[in-house]
Amino acid sequence: MAIRVGNKAEGNDFFDRVTEREEIWRLLEGNHILLSGPRRLGKTSLLQRLAEEAQEQGLLAKLVDVEGIDTAGGFILALEHAFPDVTITGYLQSVGQKISVGLDRIKGVKLNLPGGVGSEIEMQAKPDAGWADQAVRLQERLSKAPLLIFIDEFSVFLEKLIAKDAADAEKFLGWLRAWRMNSNVACRFVFSGSIGFNSLLDRYKAGTRFNDCYDFRLGPFRLKAALQMLAEEARREDWEGETPVLEHLCRRVGWLSPFYLNLLLVESIGAARDRELESGSSLHRLQISDVDDAYDRLLATRSRFIHWYQRLERDLEAPDFALALAVLNASAKSEHGLTRNQLLSRLQRLEPDPDRRSAQLNRILLKLEEDGYLNQADERIRFLSFLLRDYWKRNYG
Ligand SMILES: Nc1ncnc2c1ncn2[C@@H]1O[C@H](COP(=O)(O)OP(=O)(O)OP(=O)(O)O)[C@@H](O)[C@H]1O
Ligand SMILES: [Mg+2]
Repeated sequence: MAIRVGNKAEGNDFFDRVTEREEIWRLLEGNHILLSGPRRLGKTSLLQRLAEEAQEQGLLAKLVDVEGIDTAGGFILALEHAFPDVTITGYLQSVGQKISVGLDRIKGVKLNLPGGVGSEIEMQAKPDAGWADQAVRLQERLSKAPLLIFIDEFSVFLEKLIAKDAADAEKFLGWLRAWRMNSNVACRFVFSGSIGFNSLLDRYKAGTRFNDCYDFRLGPFRLKAALQMLAEEARREDWEGETPVLEHLCRRVGWLSPFYLNLLLVESIGAARDRELESGSSLHRLQISDVDDAYDRLLATRSRFIHWYQRLERDLEAPDFALALAVLNASAKSEHGLTRNQLLSRLQRLEPDPDRRSAQLNRILLKLEEDGYLNQADERIRFLSFLLRDYWKRNYG
């Protein structure tokens, strides 16, 4: 099986996230969740795995991708399709008339969903919108069972909905929030998406629309898990990756995003293969120099990274775009990152007024962090991915 670099990692290709999964199951006892994290960090893969885990335990769980949808009615229809009547009826028959249906079968975590089978669902006032009847019917139907509704690309959908009809989007978010907040509702929502939620909500001043959800921020892999994944993936490709070589690979990646780890591993195997072909050896053993060669090769492949630039160009108005470029260029040039004050002084030329400059920087940092460009830790702002940093320095610095 080939190493995944792009699509969600499923089945055997999915590694680790053990503590994250445990924590999410625990949180789901009492919360709906907003799963956020920079691009390509493995949000979809994690949602998929959670859905599979739930299904293996006989629970009704579905991962619904709403990327292609741009209306409230379309969203409701997607949920209708994901949870057809027969599955819900079948499920309710299979659990019989037990009143409390917990998710305690998952990893020993006790999940006491309120209500459960057969409890009365109090419906909130019907929204004043064309899709209201559909919405109420869906809610009534889905509220009978403790479903796990995992919605991916919700932020992409939401951005389109807002662009199309902001007033309708507002009603839709209000309805969805009231549904979540209903204390008798047995289902649980997890929302995720590749556009940063918090900067999206901030941009449209809709922050309160999701303040009932627990904001779960996905982080990088830990070194041990990263090394295990890399060793196993190399082995499956019939290559030996000794720990010092893989440790070197992790160091070069910097922030341990599984995507960049996999990318550099695939390229390292390619470089090793070329080296062995040239030297006539067939040891199939990775070397530190292969990793370094692979790193340079990746940097030279513009098509790998160009979309990081194009996305900003597309998303931002001219002044914000200039600001984002200035922030990224300054950060790319500094190996250990910059403090906020250092960044502010670099931006003086773009915006002389200190208060305005500070507010602008906050807004742009929110976006650049959520979209996976930058990271703030111990008072310093730096690129998450060393690869992206070095690419940026080379091409735009
Ligand atoms: N748990 C994991 N095990 C192995 N590889 C992973 C894992 N999570 C992510 N990856 C790697 O990262 C890549 C992207 O994963 P995924 O599509 O799930 O990320 P995402 O956060 O949903 O991305 P996007 O922001 O574009 O929606 C995968 O192709 C794989 O290389
Ligand atoms: Mg995704």
